[in-house]
Amino acid sequence: MARSASLFACSSCGHESPKWHGRCPGCGEWNTLVEETRSPGPADGAGRSRSARALKPVALGEVQAPRVERLRTGIGELDRVLGGGVVPGSLVLIGGSPGIGKSTLTSGALGNLAAAGRSVLYVSGEESAAQVKLRAQRLGPAALTVPIVAETDLDSVLATIEAERPEVCVVDSVQVLYDPALSGSPGSVGQVREVAGRLMRVAKERSVAVILVGHVTKEGSIAGPRVLEHLVDCVLSFEGERERTYRTLRSLKNRFGSTSEVGVFEMNEHGLVEVEDASARFAGEATRAPGSVVLCAMEGSRPLLVEVQALVAPSELVPPRRVANGVDRNRLALVLAVLARHGGAALGGSDVFVSVAGGVRVDEPGADLAIALALASAARGTELGGEQPLAAFGELGLTGELRHVGHADRRIAEARKFGLTNVLHPGERLSTLRRALAAAGARSAPARAA
Ligand code: TYD
Ligand code: MG
Repeated sequence: MARSASLFACSSCGHESPKWHGRCPGCGEWNTLVEETRSPGPADGAGRSRSARALKPVALGEVQAPRVERLRTGIGELDRVLGGGVVPGSLVLIGGSPGIGKSTLTSGALGNLAAAGRSVLYVSGEESAAQVKLRAQRLGPAALTVPIVAETDLDSVLATIEAERPEVCVVDSVQVLYDPALSGSPGSVGQVREVAGRLMRVAKERSVAVILVGHVTKEGSIAGPRVLEHLVDCVLSFEGERERTYRTLRSLKNRFGSTSEVGVFEMNEHGLVEVEDASARFAGEATRAPGSVVLCAMEGSRPLLVEVQALVAPSELVPPRRVANGVDRNRLALVLAVLARHGGAALGGSDVFVSVAGGVRVDEPGADLAIALALASAARGTELGGEQPLAAFGELGLTGELRHVGHADRRIAEARKFGLTNVLHPGERLSTLRRALAAAGARSAPARAA
């Protein structure tokens, strides 16, 4: 083999280079290249066929595709994000930062599956069986019926899966399993790739659904695992702030369903509890204080009411602070610019803080109007709306116009459901930000024809 034994691999995207670089040529991240020594082994030789033979292509219409029944985990929010349950033989990656609740979620799911008569297996590489038991005790009797092995050796884990043939197997986490035949340390790109690749082969051959738990690095990419994202069928991301109780589960990739679904959970002393009526929780906490607006957001196929809060204060810094929690910083910058240019509220000398209450993240253009109204209200110190909090949604164009966003009727219906009748949204009468500000009573500059 003419390849050198030493390689540098990016721990973020998996890019390989014979030379070290400060910045990864693949993904542009800094200081992510780490040296890996490769022993020529299955990683390099796997999948290379020795005797190639021509295959007979088949028309797609004639391909046999038996309808498979999905395995419901009994956790409605998880099932929905997966697209209706776990597909047998699929490989699912659940990523999230440490302590967010990945082990709690997967333990609960396996417990429910076991209670429904499914064969399951929990492979714990991070915690001892006793530690996992302590958690399961809090989750209830079903979680205690789950069979567990505490092991980090990949070959032993694969042999156990072959012997037990569970329908669903959780591997917690993919970064601690290792193949002794490879020289890289557990969690290195080579190891993670090998571990996931071999688990995938078992998943497909034996029709075992494998749920891989993966830790996310500070930068937000699942460690090692952008390498894994193309390999697995589903990538779920478990997010939230550790200090807050709300958690959101969203799908970043799903070969068997939509990627825009979001599940909302709350962590309490009995584990993760699904928050089915998230709107009621979030909107119920909304106040009529200056700087507060209820946003009618869409999270995948469901409407969700969340409170957007803004604070504007005189700044001593140049440039002033712009802090965005739960909304994209670039969106905030755009809203501030449009507000300054077309809304008469120039906040260039103020610190600006915007946050979505409850620790939820909204990533859609439909949030623009609510953010702008909250900022204008905060800047002026006046409350919006009448008896009830004001609700809003709509996208801001660069020329100060309000643009339509999808599912307007469902957003309005959701607001009505929770008693919010004062909803500002793009329409014939409300075509610009200026008009919206006037309608909300938050105009901070003298009226001019819009
Ligand atoms: P864990 O699932 O271990 O997180 P991860 O596997 O993502 O690292 O648990 C996360 C936190 O949740 C932990 O700090 C303790 C807390 N927790 C509860 O508040 N209630 C519970 O019932 C359980 C099981 C955990
Ligand atoms: Mg864990």
